[in-house]
Amino acid sequence: AVPKAAARGAFILFEGVDRCGKTTQSTKLVESLKAAGVNAELWRYPDRTTEMGKMINAYLQSSLDMDDGAIHLLFSANRWEKRAAMEKALGDGVTLVVDRYSYSGVAFTAAKEVPGLDLEWCKAPERGLLRPDAVLYLDMPVDAAKTRGGFGEERYETGELQERVRTHFRVLREDWWTIIDASGTIDDVHSKCAAAADEAIQRCREGAELARLWD
Ligand code: TMP
Repeated sequence: AVPKAAARGAFILFEGVDRCGKTTQSTKLVESLKAAGVNAELWRYPDRTTEMGKMINAYLQSSLDMDDGAIHLLFSANRWEKRAAMEKALGDGVTLVVDRYSYSGVAFTAAKEVPGLDLEWCKAPERGLLRPDAVLYLDMPVDAAKTRGGFGEERYETGELQERVRTHFRVLREDWWTIIDASGTIDDVHSKCAAAADEAIQRCREGAELARLWD
């Protein structure tokens, strides 16, 4: 008999405005999945370790200036350079918990200038990248995020820009996303994230196919 192919891993994405708790929650989710015996890894975008990632890092820390369109394409290219590796890991049964992806890419660039680069222009280079199996959107008013440590250290961390980012996330939101109120306790938010992740992992075990953005 032909051995049954092992189940693929799930692509679980965290999105939200800066300082809403994505890093804490994505780290915690990977720990709890691993403890439950799930093969899981934490990935994040921008991936600042690659050559492109280093340029993005310099840009975010304001030591490098770049045209808005050019930096948008660089953020996107930073996802494309990792696309095959992501697909391979998922195919090998690894569940990827990802801190930001294309939705941040679009929401942030479109929020930079008014009027700026429009949503359709921003989405175009993302088409064909992997579509997450679940989006856990941590929703938090910008005023609350601003009071958290570290806000204001990097280029995009101003209240006005983050308000526009939040508006764009609302436009990009699809009905299959899980919207989580991020103002709860860490444990509260975690249990909601874990439930949504379990559901996505189960769907992948049952054969849900990997899809592409924005088909
Ligand atoms: P980080 O704080 O999650 O490392 O993200 C760094 C900043 O980069 C954050 O302000 C969001 C922004 N960003 C984009 O502008 N485009 C993108 O494609 C991504 C992934 C992040």
